[in-house]
Amino acid sequence: MRTPFIAGNWKMNLAPAEAAELARGIAGAIAGLTGVRVALAPAACALQAVCEALAGSPIAAAAQNCHWEASGAFTGEISPEMIRDLGCRHVIIGHSERRQYFGETDETVNKKIHAAFRAGLEPIVCVGETLEEREAGRTMEVVGRQLDGALAGVAAERATVATLAYEPVWAIGTGRTATPEQAQEVHAFLRARLAERYDRDVADRIAIQYGGSVKPGNAEELLGQPDIDGALVGGASLKVDSFAAILRVAH
Ligand code: 13P
Repeated sequence: MRTPFIAGNWKMNLAPAEAAELARGIAGAIAGLTGVRVALAPAACALQAVCEALAGSPIAAAAQNCHWEASGAFTGEISPEMIRDLGCRHVIIGHSERRQYFGETDETVNKKIHAAFRAGLEPIVCVGETLEEREAGRTMEVVGRQLDGALAGVAAERATVATLAYEPVWAIGTGRTATPEQAQEVHAFLRARLAERYDRDVADRIAIQYGGSVKPGNAEELLGQPDIDGALVGGASLKVDSFAAILRVAH
């Protein structure tokens, strides 16, 4: 019922020309592949080049962050309206690297989500616990708080076009992925929380991606879990072959 949704988060990698080349390479490699939604999130400076490279392809472009205001004196920031006008469909909000290094909080995440909807973007909202929090048995408390904070004041019709991404911080860029069972447990918890906030039908329509060292070799068993609807892929999205292999598994 939920179409698998795979997004590549290129983080602070690839200048515009390299990003456009990779986007074209991925589009070519998966031409004709159906039954999977795909998005690519280059660095802000490469968004325009990637949007142009993806013109005419079903692959969507995504920004990695946005401000919550539409315009104004916010040096260094870009707004959801600017991102939309470039031709992007999505924006990643609340990635753990932004929470960890750039002071992102549940409150700023919430403001950015409302702003993304205002601009007509479909946000990809990240939640995830640190290793310390997992070892202290606080995983559900942490991701539950992040989910509630992110979606405060968000109506059901809007929530259904958002995507959630569960990314355990300890699995990001470490090569240490959550087991399919560990990931499924948190995804099922998040879906139950969505059903409490909205209702079962809304919860069943929201895609929940898993992120954290997803590779061609582990994608199949992760995506085979009932509440894992896709992946947010970092390192393995930086090469045509590895990303295309994950997309073929998902389809
Ligand atoms: P890796 O796939 O490199 O672990 O990164 C995951 C991630 O943070 C995607 O947003």
